[in-house]
Amino acid sequence: MKTELLRVENLLVRYGKATVLADLDLVVREGTVIAIVGPNGAGKSTLLNALVGAIASIGNIQFNGERLRSLDLEQRVAAGIALVPESRALFGDLSVLDNLLLGAYRFIGPRGGQRSEDNLARIYDLFPRLQERRRQLAGTLSGGERQMLALGRALMMQPRLLLLDEPSIGLAPRVTADVFGSIAQLKKAGVTIVLVEQNARAALAIADEGHVLETGRLVLSGPASELAQDPRIIETYLGSAVS
Ligand SMILES: Nc1ncnc2c1ncn2[C@@H]1O[C@H](COP(=O)(O)OP(=O)(O)OP(=O)(O)O)[C@@H](O)[C@H]1O
Ligand SMILES: [Mg+2]
Repeated sequence: MKTELLRVENLLVRYGKATVLADLDLVVREGTVIAIVGPNGAGKSTLLNALVGAIASIGNIQFNGERLRSLDLEQRVAAGIALVPESRALFGDLSVLDNLLLGAYRFIGPRGGQRSEDNLARIYDLFPRLQERRRQLAGTLSGGERQMLALGRALMMQPRLLLLDEPSIGLAPRVTADVFGSIAQLKKAGVTIVLVEQNARAALAIADEGHVLETGRLVLSGPASELAQDPRIIETYLGSAVS
């Protein structure tokens, strides 16, 4: 069995009086892709934000055998957790290259030059489009290119765990296919990924395991291939539409 990279026990998140995540348990093994699907407002982004420490949570989160409770966002990122947020959070007035370098600089520091160069080469291999457009301002990229840049920037930190929040949101089907192709390549390269997606079909196709989150609770979990065949999932999340 693969090594456990992340263990979440009894996770609870409240916004004021509202409980947004409750009793959430999750184990993520090294090198696997975990898909989390669920309706709008279910708490999917909240879960990813809680894991990376962008919002406060109660419960136990263990990463690589270490409890994360006392680690803040920066320390969790330094420990190897990277989030590509729903908003992408790119610097629109900076070039593609500067966005990538900033991703590295913040966590490797000014003396990480060679490592940054190596990372950059790997990222350009994965996304040749980013190399072609390295001098273009991030704010002028297309939706798909922005998503590639957001992924590339997260990869500059060489994360052990990549949290992806709706990578296909707002993208045309063909661009979505490209982005999922890139995620498949990352999986092949051994990156561990938690993938939150509205596009349940594409997410389950790429994932090892899937979980359904509804109103803050995991209501269904299992091997992704089985969930993709589950009548409850098909009816609610896959429909009859072909995507
Ligand atoms: N800062 C906040 N303060 C109060 N409530 C919040 C806050 N952020 C999120 N919520 C609420 O928490 C619930 C879960 O939100 P979350 O963004 O995690 O859902 P989601 O599953 O990612 O939805 P979507 O698919 O629309 O992105 C929603 O009801 C949302 O309105
Ligand atoms: Mg969300």
